[in-house]
Amino acid sequence: MFARLIGTGSYLPGNPVTNDDLAARGIDTNDEWIVTRTGIRSRYLAEHGTTSSELGLIAAQRALEMAAVQAADLDLIIVATSTPDFIFPSTACLIQGKLGNKGAATFDVQAVCAGFTYALGIAEKFIRSGSHKKALVIGAEVFSRILDWNDRGTCVLFGDGAGAVVLEASETPGILATAMHADGSQNGILNVPGQICGGQVTGDPFLRMDGQAVFKFAVRVLADVAHEVCQTAGLQTQDIDWLIPHQANIRIIEATGKKLGVDRDKVIVTVDRHGNTSAASVPLALDEAVRDGRIKRGQKVLLEGVGGGFTWGAALLEF
Ligand code: UT7
Repeated sequence: MFARLIGTGSYLPGNPVTNDDLAARGIDTNDEWIVTRTGIRSRYLAEHGTTSSELGLIAAQRALEMAAVQAADLDLIIVATSTPDFIFPSTACLIQGKLGNKGAATFDVQAVCAGFTYALGIAEKFIRSGSHKKALVIGAEVFSRILDWNDRGTCVLFGDGAGAVVLEASETPGILATAMHADGSQNGILNVPGQICGGQVTGDPFLRMDGQAVFKFAVRVLADVAHEVCQTAGLQTQDIDWLIPHQANIRIIEATGKKLGVDRDKVIVTVDRHGNTSAASVPLALDEAVRDGRIKRGQKVLLEGVGGGFTWGAALLEF
């Protein structure tokens, strides 16, 4: 029994915000610096007050429509997010309520930019065990909410959005291998080190990052985890039709493709137009490439994520 992808969907809020737009808002930056260092040209930023569940709901509805599945028939809903609407209930429960599903197992996964690969791996294990038949897996983020707009080293890098997939139990091949890893000793290089305590924010409620440490770590583990899932599935990295790495920085994406020996034209890239949307970046890129016809049935697709924690993961699937 496989967990097979039968629908994808995504949603980006509002209009693109260009690098020049950010500079015009008073951020001490410029298009040339951002494009050269990251490949990012624009991103989408949700209106103040817009939540991850609102973005995730639209992505989910689009994935359900493609899959021709009714929300009532889902028995598992997982949302990968580090920007949940509330401390609780989970964003997954909020989306379940808005979809009108009752009874599905429903929870959030917090693995930052690796979150979608974690959520997909968890859903795959539920389905392969035989306990669940139809799963909705969503990556949804409003990272704009946790950015320090006075920190030009981080605020220009991120965007908001959501992506989703519907999985079903199938004898036709689907997800072939997954992997999830973490190294908590690296928690200090990318974090939001604040909390709410007694009604007050304590600590720092904004995203902080040691960019160069993150860069080096990301390239290493993205290559390692790609090799790991290929080996589990009995494939070589050259057998992959499409590589969809986490969309954080074009230089990380290109270095990873090069290390894996995957041609540049087999790598799906959205970071130029979406920025880094954390757990939403992989399903957003997947949905774009499915809908524009690049990814076709039967092709091998490798998804991989890396993020705060430090966490990293991958899923190799036959579409
Ligand atoms: O999901 C994972 C998320 N994180 C990542 O993927 C981040 C990985 N890291 C990176 O992508 C890069 O480290 C960055 C793009 C974040 C930074 O690039 P860098 O080459 O490591 O630059 P830097 O931080 O060493 O900064 C170089 C210079 C500094 O100026 P000085 O001290 O040399 O005068 C910064 O102040 O660039 C300056 N700078 C900027 N200039 C214009 C930093 N941010 C900006 C900016 N616009 N937005």
